[in-house]
Amino acid sequence: MQKANKQYIPFQPVKMERREWPDKVITKAPVWCSVDLRDGNQALVTPMQLDEKLLMFKTLVDIGFKEIEVGFPSASDTEYEILRTLIEGNYIPDDVTVQVLVQARAELIKKTFEAVKGAKNVIIHFYNSTSTLQRKVVFKKEMDGIIDIAVEGARLIRQLTEEEVAKSGMNIRYEYSPESFTGTEIDFAIRICEEVMKELGATKENPVILNLPSTVEMSTPNTYADQIEYFCKHLKNREAAIISIHPHNDRGTAVASAELALMAGAERIEGTLFGNGERTGNLDLVTVALNMFTQGVDPELDFTNILEIKKVYEQCTKMHVHERQPYAGELAFTAFSGSHQDAIRKGYEYMETSETPYWEVPYLPINPADISREYEPVIRINSQSGKGGAAFVLEHACGYRLPKEMHPEFGAIVKAASDAYGDELKEEQIVELFNKEYLDFKGKYTLLQHRFTELRELDGTTETRFEGYINDNGAIKMIVGSGNGPIDSFFQAISSIGVVGYEFVNYHEHAISRGSDALGICYIELKVPGNGHIFGVGINSNINVAAIQGILCAINRAEAHHGQEQ
Ligand code: KIV
Ligand code: ZN
Repeated sequence: MQKANKQYIPFQPVKMERREWPDKVITKAPVWCSVDLRDGNQALVTPMQLDEKLLMFKTLVDIGFKEIEVGFPSASDTEYEILRTLIEGNYIPDDVTVQVLVQARAELIKKTFEAVKGAKNVIIHFYNSTSTLQRKVVFKKEMDGIIDIAVEGARLIRQLTEEEVAKSGMNIRYEYSPESFTGTEIDFAIRICEEVMKELGATKENPVILNLPSTVEMSTPNTYADQIEYFCKHLKNREAAIISIHPHNDRGTAVASAELALMAGAERIEGTLFGNGERTGNLDLVTVALNMFTQGVDPELDFTNILEIKKVYEQCTKMHVHERQPYAGELAFTAFSGSHQDAIRKGYEYMETSETPYWEVPYLPINPADISREYEPVIRINSQSGKGGAAFVLEHACGYRLPKEMHPEFGAIVKAASDAYGDELKEEQIVELFNKEYLDFKGKYTLLQHRFTELRELDGTTETRFEGYINDNGAIKMIVGSGNGPIDSFFQAISSIGVVGYEFVNYHEHAISRGSDALGICYIELKVPGNGHIFGVGINSNINVAAIQGILCAINRAEAHHGQEQ
């Protein structure tokens, strides 16, 4: 067993007299900023090529991102060239702002201003690390020295901005990140941000984006929320700042951190699709947005085509979206447990029969159809699945609504097949099993020709007469019988060739809505002499004929099973 290790320093909670965020609810979308092309891209084994970056950029625009960090153009020639292509190729819509990252270093800032020439809307995002640890081991500087780096960067950025705006009228906004914010003494983080705001001349009309990253996620999400609330409450000139968050996912709680931080006052979020990014990734924006959607809040991002987006993402990043990824994972809408399957089926029935305006299906937090996911794979059948699961799949695949009493029989057939196969069964396999066991079942008896006649007595009562030819194990026989309806008359007719002892128990029928011909399906339940119950199924455009086929199917199955048991 692993022992507690004393070399790790536990995070310190923020001292707050009172915290308000736990009572808050997320009611509107934040400003979203995608950092897929920068933080996401820099963390790829094979960074995106130009065509992949362009495809990713277009996809982000289509999703609805209005702020997109496109790279770190002063850091590499490739990043520089990609930004130039985006600008010169007119890839950037007028309502989209491209964001470029740069360290607070003069030569890099100058190169960044060259890189953005010709763009319409730009956010210059500059940063320096402020954390206790980085000051000690990387920069070997006191707090004042770190503030100087940020303020000098801010001064140059403001000067170059004023020159550019005077020349071209470019719309330039500022973003400052005290990198490793969550590892920085909170009052120091506030102080450095205030100095930067002053230097940039931030006002309510021209606010600075203050981006507070959990560069490395190092605490529980409530602590991040405390840090954000504390920051918002103590920052001077608060209205001249837009508070942005940029969570990473080292502890696996970036989504929770982001959601609590929004409750704590954050107004803007940076992250990536499916959480791509350094180490364990950035915040997954898809999950945060769709979580909002499931709460009735319009996320203002469109993930209707989530599978298409996933495809583009996998193509561009060469990363794989995990099967269990919320919303997008292949298994996100799959229930293996029988009780889950049963509840989901009932939920879908309830949605159809009730007039509920709400999404009320157990185990599915979102209607898969809202993100163009089919509920086809909602249920996969394995040997652990409940009896209702196979019926659900069949209904979904073919529109057959097996009566409840039939679920155990067909469920057992599917379970045996799944056990024998050693794996879960796909929808097609379940349909195939049903056809083989019922609709295409070849047994001892085959009906060749038949006719019903209705005889009306003088007293007004009617009698149905059945006449037909049946193939009885190779011998063609004529059968005739009369009764008080088609089923009764058929039972009388087959008793003439020795088929006796079967008791009619139940009958269900419904129209099959799929396909062009109007067909009816009939499910027949018979009591087998001394041997329980058995079902048969018939399909025909004439429902009486479907019933006869169903009876013969049940009898044929009973005789075949009886034969097997001997
Ligand atoms: O994670 C981080 O701190 C960053 C900054 C550059 C914002 O990516
Ligand atoms: Zn980051």
